[in-house]
Amino acid sequence: MISLTSKSPARLSVDALVVAVGRSGEAVTPLDADWLPQDLARLISTDAAKLGITGAVDEVRRVPGLGISAAVLVVTGVGDVDAVTPETLRRAAGAAARELAGTSSVGLALPAVDAAQVAAVAEGALLGAYSYDRYSKAPAAVERFELVTDRTRDAAAKKAVARAEVIGDAVRATRDLVNTAPNDLFPAAFADLAKVAAKEAKGVKVSVLDEKALASGGYGGLIGVGQGSTRGPRLVRVSYSPSRPHASVALVGKGITFDSGGISIKPAAGMDAMKSDMAGAAAVLHTVVAAARLELPVAVTGWLCLAENMPSGSAQRPSDVITIRGGKTVEVLNTDAEGRLVMADGLVAAVEEKPDVVLDIATLTGAQMVALGYRVSAVMGADDVRTEIVDAATATGEQFWPMPLPAELRAGLKSKVADLANIGDRFGGMLTAGVFLREFVGETPWAHLDIAGPSFNEKGAHGYTPVGGTGVGVRTLLGFLEARAAR
Ligand code: BES
Ligand code: MN
Ligand code: ZN
Repeated sequence: MISLTSKSPARLSVDALVVAVGRSGEAVTPLDADWLPQDLARLISTDAAKLGITGAVDEVRRVPGLGISAAVLVVTGVGDVDAVTPETLRRAAGAAARELAGTSSVGLALPAVDAAQVAAVAEGALLGAYSYDRYSKAPAAVERFELVTDRTRDAAAKKAVARAEVIGDAVRATRDLVNTAPNDLFPAAFADLAKVAAKEAKGVKVSVLDEKALASGGYGGLIGVGQGSTRGPRLVRVSYSPSRPHASVALVGKGITFDSGGISIKPAAGMDAMKSDMAGAAAVLHTVVAAARLELPVAVTGWLCLAENMPSGSAQRPSDVITIRGGKTVEVLNTDAEGRLVMADGLVAAVEEKPDVVLDIATLTGAQMVALGYRVSAVMGADDVRTEIVDAATATGEQFWPMPLPAELRAGLKSKVADLANIGDRFGGMLTAGVFLREFVGETPWAHLDIAGPSFNEKGAHGYTPVGGTGVGVRTLLGFLEARAAR
């Protein structure tokens, strides 16, 4: 929870007080900190080197709170003082909030002279204040922040804080789903949690198709992928429809609650990370909830394509032919290319309702990570929608890079027996997956977001990003909806 205050930071009764420091040439300088008592100011500039304070990004140091009410002053780096952006502030606030887990109240005295900076500091703090302790004890995330700004009465600043709370909740809830072990989060369990989340948010409706309903509805992708598991697939529709919407947007999320690869089984090393193969569906669910909480004037329908991809006597085989909803047949040449099969069903269902635009988000390919690494997601699709996604991402601090859907890759997906095969050329695997999905969207404006790498952080925590589920996509999707609401 964040409250705004115009008190002097020195007077705040909090356990820890955070200040930003940056580098200006050789010097280390605190930002917007003329309130700092002299002793402290000297400590963090003159004695910076001795204290290991360089002002570098992701550097968080604690010094004794000399002459201030808080027991500790926490110094968080922003890098070059002349290159401070909303995202550097978000990351600096987030790194501090993350490092301060276990502290109950924290003052934020980072630059916050206008609503944009208030938003950045609030978002960063709320994104960094995350801890996942379902299965073992972990220091509790910071619960109470006091953000120092002159803008306490500014409507834009207040709105920014309210929005940051909604964003923080949505991203953290998405991370929780990704971090949940797959023995606890299987398709039916995910569907139940979607109902709970919808009940808590006013105006969100949920309906669930179970395996019987999926079979009679012709959802051959979900059925085929899910049939190897004892825990059957689900298609969840989550909708928010305000009274006079400016637009209607469909969001389709990949929700493979565990991807073993199926009969085309994955190697043992690293298979554990495939509990995160439902990150797209998690992001979709909590984006719809966030849109409702913010009362955006946009109708949003989320489609969660939930299945567990397992090898067994009932699993689909390489060479099986399945029929996606709507009638297209697919020869399953590799059961590990399962995401595109469940997403095809979801895209067809979404498009049937004739939304203005459809976005899909999926941990779809290892090739995404080969192309863009751990932190940069990819977006493919119609040029204009793709640009809207990149713009929304940039504004909110997520990294999405535009990628093409080369027409020549379609040939690789030819099957000898069906309309399409589910794998294609060896190179450009991410693009081939996008080309496959395009077959199921028809004329509806569309973009495809591949978040395979960025959705699950197996390396170290950084900025406001924890280890494990990151919640990537929520902020970009929400930004996209807000932009559609405004146009
Ligand atoms: N869920 C994986 C993609 C993935 C890999 C996500 C690594 C996150 C990290 C997907 O279902 C998959 O297995 N894709 C295959 C496709 C291939 C068989 C054409 C892949 O990328 O290897
Ligand atoms: Mn797979
Ligand atoms: Zn997968």
